[in-house]
Amino acid sequence: MSELYKKGDVIGGKFEVLGTLGKGGFGVVYLTRERGHRDPCALKSFRDEFLADGKVREAFKKEALLWVNLGEHPFILSARWVEVFSGRLFVQMDYVAPDSEGRTSLADHLAKGNRALDPDQTLEWGIQFCFGLEHASAHGVKCHRDINPRNILITQERTLKIADFGLAAAAELAWRSMGSQGQSLVTGGAEQGFGLSLLKTDGRCWCGTPGYIPPEVYRHGSADICSDIYSFGLVLWQMSTGSNSPPFLVPYRGDIEGFLRGVYRQQLTCRLPPVPEPLCRIVERCVKPDPTERYQHFGELRGDLARIFRDRTGIPVQVPEVGEPSALFWGKKGGSLLGLGRYEDAIGCLDKVLAIDPRDATAWGNKGVALAALGRLEMRLGATTGPWRLIPNRRRFGATRAMLLMDPAVARRRLPATIRLWLWIRHPRLLGTTRV
Ligand SMILES: Nc1ncnc2c1ncn2[C@@H]1O[C@H](COP(=O)(O)OP(=O)(O)OP(=O)(O)O)[C@@H](O)[C@H]1O
Ligand SMILES: [Mg+2]
Repeated sequence: MSELYKKGDVIGGKFEVLGTLGKGGFGVVYLTRERGHRDPCALKSFRDEFLADGKVREAFKKEALLWVNLGEHPFILSARWVEVFSGRLFVQMDYVAPDSEGRTSLADHLAKGNRALDPDQTLEWGIQFCFGLEHASAHGVKCHRDINPRNILITQERTLKIADFGLAAAAELAWRSMGSQGQSLVTGGAEQGFGLSLLKTDGRCWCGTPGYIPPEVYRHGSADICSDIYSFGLVLWQMSTGSNSPPFLVPYRGDIEGFLRGVYRQQLTCRLPPVPEPLCRIVERCVKPDPTERYQHFGELRGDLARIFRDRTGIPVQVPEVGEPSALFWGKKGGSLLGLGRYEDAIGCLDKVLAIDPRDATAWGNKGVALAALGRLEMRLGATTGPWRLIPNRRRFGATRAMLLMDPAVARRRLPATIRLWLWIRHPRLLGTTRV
């Protein structure tokens, strides 16, 4: 996929592009800075051809929202919102800056391929990974589906962050809807490592990162948490041995179907190449061909990793503190849902912002927009007149939007050109709804 934006461009009128962080199977990740904000953030865009069909587009957004819904967790890369700019879908993520050696992902830490990671570090990252996926499971993620070292980012403080929740499932939905038209589309390669690829085997369209696909997913496509355990077992093997590629690979000569079949056979019939202690038995159990013989959830795997970590270091593993989501989180999520036309859900989130900070003008503004879209005039009136006095002068612009939208008669007479323009760009439907 080619880059659509270059340094200096502005996305959606507010994100200045500072550079490109990389390209994956499904899009480009840009480093950007939101106007008026100090910290940079990462914006991930998606292949346009996937999103041409309206139904697929909606399904894609829904899957991407699963990631946003995970909120803030110390071991999950936070996705802030999903939004459409200029007809393109974007996910905003926290930016992970490279360390002093230019490494951002676990793949970068393994890139040299000749030195095992320090066992205590492997255990610590293994435990962090489990905590992250336990949190995701508890928040409705059935399965990540694309566990591999490129989707595990490592911050400068050496904290692990899992990325790309929901995207493999979303890509698969999109691929199925257009699969009859194409052949497999493989990203990356055996040397540099494969990316999430669109696969077509025996007429079935599915997605996965070659080399990390569990046998049951190759066989019939259905994946669950035990499939994630398998893929993570391969990653643990890489960390323990220092290999930059997973075990069970066969030579790749451009025939992806043959390659996947070969890997599958190896997974079923070959012994896992030796894993040094202390992780030997744990990794072997993760990559059992039969899912029922693996760990059945990440809590169970974490228990074993934590026991070894404690025995080696004397340090007990603490359950990370996961605070209540902040007003910022609810505000961003509410804004995302509003942009996606899910007005009721947006109002639920915006009410949470207002419970924390009743003076948040943007939340009032967005709530006004959502209520206007639903045609709930009387509620809109009740919702925004009360706290009007509380909102400081400098923040009244956002709230003005809500006030004017509350009463179509007022809006018709007095809507300023700037607000009219804002609505025209961001919520063209509302212009019709409120007959502004
Ligand atoms: N939030 C982020 N902060 C910093 N770098 C990032 C961030 N997200 C992604 N990257 C980098 O951008 C590149 C592309 O990421 P992307 O997720 O699109 O592809 P990938 O993970 O390499 O492959 P896949 O398509 O299988 O996910 C990667 O090198 C990744 O390290
Ligand atoms: Mg990725």
